[in-house]
Amino acid sequence: MNTDPTSPAQPFEIFLVAAPGLEPVLCAEASDRGFTNPTMVKGGVTVTGGWPEVWRANLELRGATRVLARIASFRALHLAQLDKRARRVPWAEILRADVPVRVEASCKASRIYHAGAAAQRIERAIAEELGAPIVKAAPKKTGKSADRDAPEDDTRAVQIKARIDDDLCTISVDSSGESLHKRGHKEAVNKAPMRETLAALFLRQCGYDGREPVPVVDPMCGSGTFVIEAAEIAAGLKPGRSRSFAFEQLATFDPARWQSLRGSTGTATPPAVRFYGSDRDAGAVAMSRANAERAGVGAWTDFAHHAISDLTPPEGPPGLVIVNPPYGARIGEGKSLIPLYHAMGQTLKTRFAGWRVGIITNEAALAKATELPFQEGGVSVSNGGIRVTLYQTGVLG
Ligand SMILES: C[S@@+](CC[C@H](N)C(=O)[O-])C[C@H]1O[C@@H](n2cnc3c(N)ncnc32)[C@H](O)[C@@H]1O
Repeated sequence: MNTDPTSPAQPFEIFLVAAPGLEPVLCAEASDRGFTNPTMVKGGVTVTGGWPEVWRANLELRGATRVLARIASFRALHLAQLDKRARRVPWAEILRADVPVRVEASCKASRIYHAGAAAQRIERAIAEELGAPIVKAAPKKTGKSADRDAPEDDTRAVQIKARIDDDLCTISVDSSGESLHKRGHKEAVNKAPMRETLAALFLRQCGYDGREPVPVVDPMCGSGTFVIEAAEIAAGLKPGRSRSFAFEQLATFDPARWQSLRGSTGTATPPAVRFYGSDRDAGAVAMSRANAERAGVGAWTDFAHHAISDLTPPEGPPGLVIVNPPYGARIGEGKSLIPLYHAMGQTLKTRFAGWRVGIITNEAALAKATELPFQEGGVSVSNGGIRVTLYQTGVLG
């Protein structure tokens, strides 16, 4: 693997982290956006490129949770070898001596099995070869990752991830920083917001990629995630246009080049259709409007305060209804929600002929209660610890 990622002649591997279960959808997005050699792997998608592609992935991809630049890969059979090889990584070309660094390590099926000791060797290599301040990672609740003794943390720190798998140590830099579902517009959120990255991938899985001018309706819009994502996609707005990224803190960052990349992609094209949200909670509706305004899509979105039983299709061509209704936190708890799902299904079946429907929920019994003609094999993903599935219909008759 290339250890000189600043050289444009030597592209390196870029790992796009996906919510497990949605890797194929992210792979399709990466391919659509022209990334080189998108390949689906467990937990994400790999593409190849240099730092400008890393920046572009953060700026443009709606479905990636974060973007890791794989800067080095070597075999390490014991800690002394790890120590030696970690010192050969050209840290000064990648990291800055004045920016704190946090190292997280994990070990799997390897002779080096102590993640804490592995992280410590890499920290020492960075501290001694580059002189960057080291910040201890906050302890993790579960897993074998390096739980450092001190809970000290620094959110400004650049994160290095070392993964030792089958004696192969792969070192990556987290180029994103805060998770990419944080687009930088949403101040107001309700109790169970859908992550923007998941919402975008569910929209794509429903065939919505902004190419066709179809309206999108979310009749239980909460904080407005689906409606805002759909409007942004239609308007050609880049998801990362308003936020900062960890790569801005790296030695490889070129502000002028980044500005030209960002500047050329931040303008909206007014969509030919509108995007609609409604909710029976007045607070959610106000929240959605405010979030849409902040995202710059207020002019193309409409939010109304009413229950789903009062939902009627907007004027104009049919499009997509996408909704994640309330679901029971535990299996079986959803029984009380069956009447709500049934009523929703009736409303959609009787009033939305010509539309397609996508429903995200955690219990097959709830989906079944809608009596909608769902296609086989919906994608499943964990949303905040709850396994949810996208149930999709074709065009309703
Ligand atoms: C899981 S949340 C949706 C979250 C939303 N996708 C987001 O990203 O913020 C479910 C929403 O359904 C709304 N809701 C529940 N019953 C409803 C009904 N009968 N009619 C309309 N909205 C309803 C709740 O007020 C809540 O905002």
